[in-house]
Amino acid sequence: MYQSIRIADAKASRSAAVAIGLFDKTKSLPAGYKALDAHLGGALSEAIKRSELSTARGAVTALYPEKGAARAYIVGLGDGERASDAVRIAGAKLVNTAFSAGLDRISVMIAPALAGQKDADSDACAAALGEGVVLGNFEFVTFRGTAGKGGDKNAKKAAALTVDVESKLFKCARQGAIVAESQNLTRTLASTPPNVANPVYLGEFCRKMAREVGLTCEVIDAKKAKRMGMGGLCAVGAGGSTPPVMIVMQWKGRKGQGPRAKGKNNPQSAIRNPQSPILLVGKAVTFDTGGYSLKPSDSQTTMKYDKCGGAAVIGAMHAIAKLKLAQPVTAIIASAENLVDREAYRVQDIIKFYNGVTCEVTNTDAEGRLVLADALSYGCKTFKPRAVIDLATLTGGVVVALGSHMAGAFVNDAKLREHLFDAAEYTGERLWHLPLWEEHRDQMRGHHADLINSSPVREASPIQGAAFLSFFVAKDGDFKKKETVPWAHIDIAGTADRKGDGPLYQRGATGYGVRLLVRAVETWK
Ligand code: BES
Ligand code: MN
Ligand code: ZN
Repeated sequence: MYQSIRIADAKASRSAAVAIGLFDKTKSLPAGYKALDAHLGGALSEAIKRSELSTARGAVTALYPEKGAARAYIVGLGDGERASDAVRIAGAKLVNTAFSAGLDRISVMIAPALAGQKDADSDACAAALGEGVVLGNFEFVTFRGTAGKGGDKNAKKAAALTVDVESKLFKCARQGAIVAESQNLTRTLASTPPNVANPVYLGEFCRKMAREVGLTCEVIDAKKAKRMGMGGLCAVGAGGSTPPVMIVMQWKGRKGQGPRAKGKNNPQSAIRNPQSPILLVGKAVTFDTGGYSLKPSDSQTTMKYDKCGGAAVIGAMHAIAKLKLAQPVTAIIASAENLVDREAYRVQDIIKFYNGVTCEVTNTDAEGRLVLADALSYGCKTFKPRAVIDLATLTGGVVVALGSHMAGAFVNDAKLREHLFDAAEYTGERLWHLPLWEEHRDQMRGHHADLINSSPVREASPIQGAAFLSFFVAKDGDFKKKETVPWAHIDIAGTADRKGDGPLYQRGATGYGVRLLVRAVETWK
C-alpha cells in the first residue's frame, strides 16, 4: 500500500515504467502506441505476436525492454464489454504491480486502445483509471498490531506513487482519484470496529470532516432528537453503548446567489445556490445484533457493516465538497447501535416518529427503517428537497435476490430513475429496479398502531422495507397531502461488503454508493 497516489499529466514526460491497455482480439499494435513501441525498441509489438500474452480483464504481463524504459506492462482489458469497469480493474492491478516492483512512478496509456472500441466512453474510462489506482491501493491497516501479517507492508507504505496519465484523460482521471479517495474514506469508516465507531464517534467524525472540506454540520444528539419527536431513532438507540445521533451536513452549492429564504432559524437561509437541495439519507447502525429479536451469531459477524449506507453518504459529501459541485446537497445520517440492554426497545413497543406516524415494533431486527423514518420525514419537512435518495443495508432479502454485484433500487419517479440508472452504468455501481405497489404498503399497516415494522410473512422483505419507508417521504414535507417527493431507496445490503477478495475490492467494505451518488449529483439537471 502506498501512502499516497498522485495523478499527473503525462504530456511528454516518460517514466521508467510504462503501462498500456489492450482489448482482446488486438492482432496488431493500435496506431497510438507506435511511438511508444519505437521508444521501447519494438518490445510491445513483439509481445503482441506471442500466444502467451493474455488480454483477459486485469491480466498483467511484465516486459523488460532493452531500451526506453526499465519496465513495460501490458494490462488486459477483456472483450470490450463494460470497458470502464475493465479499466478500473486494470488500474487496481497496476497499482499493486507497481507496489510489488517498488516503483514510485508509472505512466499509463489507454487512449489508443479505447480509440478502437466504439462503445467505450473515454471520460468514463479516464475516471475509472483514476478510481482504479486509488481503490486498488486500499488497505485497512489502522488496527494492525505487532503480530499481524504485513509488518513490512506497513514499513514500506511511506512511499508515494505518481501515475502519469495521457493529457486528454488527465482531468477525468484526477477527478476519479478524488472520488475514490472519498470512497476509501467510506471503506475506512465502514471497517472501523463497533467498539470504536459508535454513533457518537460518527458525529465527531463528521464535525471534523465538515470543517476540513467546507460543509456545515449539525449533530442532533439523543436529548434533542427526543424533544423533536424522533421516536424511531431514540427507540433503536436506547440500548446502545452510546446514545444515537442524527447527523445533518450541508453543501450549499457552488453558484452563490444569496439566501433562498430569510429568517435565522430557517436552515435554508444560508443556501448559496437558490435551488432546493438534493437530500441524501444514510442508515448508520454501528452494530446490529438484532436487539431482542436477536440474530443468530453467524449473522452478526458482518454487522459492523450495517453503517455502510451512512458511511457512503459521508464519503459522497466529502467528494461533493472537494469537487465543489454546483448543486446544493443536504445529507442526513441516522446513527444508532442496536443492542440488547435493560434500556433497549422491545417487541410490541409502540413508537411515534417525527411526522406523527405511529408503529408497533414487531421485530427489533427491522431497525433500519425505524431510524430512517425519522431521518426521511425530518429531512422532507425541514429542507423541502427536490429529490431524496436513501442508502441502507436494509434487508438480507436483497442479498438473496440480487447478490453482491448490484443494489436493489426502488424509485417512484421516472426521471429520477433514469438519472440514477445512467449514473449507475457510468460508475459501475450498478442497480436493479424493484417494484413497490400499494398492496405492499397495505402489508405494513398495523392493528394497534398505524404501521408494523415487519410483517408476519417474510415474503418480499426488501419490498416491505421500501414500503415502510414510503410513509415518510412527502413533497414539501407536507404529510397530509398524498403527493410524494421524487425518491429513491437503494438497498445496499449485498454490495456494501464482500466475503472474498475480488478483482477490484479486497475482502471487506467496498464503499459502494459513493461514486453513484457523486455522479448523480454532478450530472443533475
Ligand atoms: N442489517 C440488517 C440487514 C442485513 C442482513 C444487512 C444481512 C446485511 C446482511 C437489517 O437490519 C435486518 O436485520 N433486516 C431484517 C429485516 C426483517 C427482520 C424484516 C432481515 O433482512 O432479515
Ligand atoms: Mn436488523
Ligand atoms: Zn440492520
